[in-house]
Amino acid sequence: MFAAWTVKHKPKSLNEIVGNKDAIQKVTDWIKSWGKGIPKKRAIFLYGPPGIGKTVAVEALAHDLNMEFVENNASDYRTEDAVNRFAGLASQYGSLFGGKRIILLDELDGLTGTADRGGVKAITDIVKTAQCPIVLIANSAYDPRFSNLRLYCLLIEFKKPAAGDVVKRLEWICDQEGIQADESALKFVAQRSEGDVRSAVNDLQALAQGKKKLSYEDVSWFGYRDRQDTIFNVLRMILYGKTCVGAKQAVDMADVDIDMLFEWIYENVPAHLTDPRDLAQAMDALSIADVYRGRIRATQDWGFTRYVIDYMTAGVAMARQNTKVHGWIPFKFPERIQMLSRSRAERAMQLSIGQKIKRKNHISAARASKQVLPYLRIIFKNDVNMAAGLAKWLDLAPEMIGYVVGSEEKAKEIIDLMS
Ligand SMILES: Nc1ncnc2c1ncn2[C@@H]1O[C@H](COP(=O)(O)OP(=O)(O)OP(=O)(O)O)[C@@H](O)[C@H]1O
Ligand SMILES: [Mg+2]
Repeated sequence: MFAAWTVKHKPKSLNEIVGNKDAIQKVTDWIKSWGKGIPKKRAIFLYGPPGIGKTVAVEALAHDLNMEFVENNASDYRTEDAVNRFAGLASQYGSLFGGKRIILLDELDGLTGTADRGGVKAITDIVKTAQCPIVLIANSAYDPRFSNLRLYCLLIEFKKPAAGDVVKRLEWICDQEGIQADESALKFVAQRSEGDVRSAVNDLQALAQGKKKLSYEDVSWFGYRDRQDTIFNVLRMILYGKTCVGAKQAVDMADVDIDMLFEWIYENVPAHLTDPRDLAQAMDALSIADVYRGRIRATQDWGFTRYVIDYMTAGVAMARQNTKVHGWIPFKFPERIQMLSRSRAERAMQLSIGQKIKRKNHISAARASKQVLPYLRIIFKNDVNMAAGLAKWLDLAPEMIGYVVGSEEKAKEIIDLMS
């Protein structure tokens, strides 16, 4: 079964966490200071953007210091019962088994509405008298709701790690997965994620899972689009949608156009609808959507768009009848688009070789790439000496030679012979 790499490769120890060294040091010092008695601030408030390791840093710290770790989502503290349980835990430093305790209250921003103002107040009251370290986490600490709570906390900001740090983590994961990745490829993935390690790891998995090698070409083709967080959510809404309306709404959220969304759905339906009847039904819906797409192309009547949308979203969502959901299945990038962009690059290469041939032979570049290139390929593969002579005469660049012979080794041999 598949496992999300963010979970499979979740850092266990602090030395696996990239970035925020100073902030992590501050947290560590503060936790350790409890050994000498209760510090002035009994809680710390960690804040910063999503996916940069706030939660996992605290987990790793508790692991490294061998502490009893109590982790909760702040939104669990809406009921009086839960608050009392929290108060009970916070009233003792030592745990039953002799270890020291640390309490994490995560996702504080999740508390909303008037009822929850009680929640923040209850948390504040507990922090004031806590007998063990409490860590609070939120994306922003400066929400007015927290103004009173802030007074009792040591504020520590987590920042987005630099791209170089993210690359290090991606490298490590590739190592574990037995993937040989070019640094340029990982750099690209890291830069795209803009410091969000979680989404960088997700991207990496979508692009590299099952591969032995990862090159820049394998990742650069989706560079024209923004972060695809939303596309994953959109796909989830469609492939796991319970209602037609919900599935249709997904289209408005998508940051890709309808044709592209069609490709994404088409690529991912087979893996996510495993029951054959469900799959047949979904593919049927997609094929009808595709017929309407064809009609739009033929007639330019964009009124058909609504049918395309209905069939490819609601039609697919409603196909799910018998498929059992077990485990987590990653979404894949549409291969068809990848192939198209690859063949586009290939056509460009053929044409530029055609230009070189044109210069010497006075035929059009298009004709040269169609009619001469295949012969060139045979010659290059069979006779390196002749290949070197021809390459020199045609003034082919090294990457063109590589493309014509289709093997790095032979290309090197030819280039060596040329000089
Ligand atoms: N700095 C990091 N070093 C290594 N892995 C990281 C780092 N940040 C995030 N990750 C990966 O991303 C996953 C999610 O990280 P984490 O839950 O700590 O993010 P967060 O900052 O708490 O985000 P949120 O605000 O959404 O809760 C981790 O399980 C880990 O796989
Ligand atoms: Mg978190």
